[in-house]
Amino acid sequence: MNTPEWIWLDGELVPWAEATVHVTTHALHYGSSVFEGIRAYETREGVALFRLRDHLVRMQQSAKLLRMPMPFSVDRLEQACRKLVRSNHDGACYVRPLAFRGSGDLCVDGRERPTQTTIISFEWGAYLGDGAVEHGVDAAVSSWRRFSSNTHLPLGKIGGQYVNNQLVAAQAHVDGYQEGIVLDESGLVAEGSGENLFAVKDGVLLTPPVFSAILAGITRSTVLQLAGDLGIPCHETPISRDALYLADELFMTGTAAEITPVRSVDRIPIGRGERGERGPVTARLQDAFFSVLRGETADRHGWLTPIDQSAPATAYAAAAS
Ligand SMILES: Cc1ncc(COP(=O)(O)O)c(C=O)c1O
Repeated sequence: MNTPEWIWLDGELVPWAEATVHVTTHALHYGSSVFEGIRAYETREGVALFRLRDHLVRMQQSAKLLRMPMPFSVDRLEQACRKLVRSNHDGACYVRPLAFRGSGDLCVDGRERPTQTTIISFEWGAYLGDGAVEHGVDAAVSSWRRFSSNTHLPLGKIGGQYVNNQLVAAQAHVDGYQEGIVLDESGLVAEGSGENLFAVKDGVLLTPPVFSAILAGITRSTVLQLAGDLGIPCHETPISRDALYLADELFMTGTAAEITPVRSVDRIPIGRGERGERGPVTARLQDAFFSVLRGETADRHGWLTPIDQSAPATAYAAAAS
């Protein structure tokens, strides 16, 4: 990870090395944090954040699920993200807003702890490896299950819950795959360790519904919208494990992973099995997706928030506080 100059912490920009917390921080012990991952892209009109507001709204919803008050509004965090990116980067980057229960006693019920808020930005390339977006990844169905809404909060992007995702990702990597796929409690397909999942069968796009214990991904909703724009029929429907193996195409979606094809599951080749070849529906959706991100086609859904690179960096610390 590169280390840019600034981190936004509780309302102001502070130097990277000074953005530290106390060891009694509640989130460090009990995972009481909510977070987002947002990408900024270089468009023809300059750097722009993709679906910034939607991410920040989801972060507020995650905090609500955790009963954690958020000291900063969506508007304020939106402004802070823009200032941070402007201060730290000339080009594309990844932005990580995080709110967490701060320091104090170590009672498990941390509602009395103050909420701290930070935003980190750094450069981050292809999440699932070089060439993954073009040539796809090999995935495995995990022996771990996705937690349910009876035990956790699948709709929340909540720090402590990511122990489950870590187990899925680590198992896949140790076993020689790029990513793991989790099934939900009933054995139906849920998602990847950090991505949602889409299948294509007979020209129809299929993806598990939100009640399959998935995170309601913002890239997932982008793909559903683009599929509608392109006239690709799409169903949010439960998907069984064997239907995965028999899909004509499979791909994963996420802010970090963008749209990444899956070329095999459990070493069973997907579709025609010609390694490294994207399926036609995946290719159409990727092309539509990346051309919006690069500003090559009109941003008709208002997904891009431009960063004004002309403002002087020295003004940011004062303006963000
Ligand atoms: C578990 C999980 N599922 C799905 C996603 C994809 O969500 P998004 O497209 O909003 O990044 C992510 C990434 O945030 C994730 O961590």
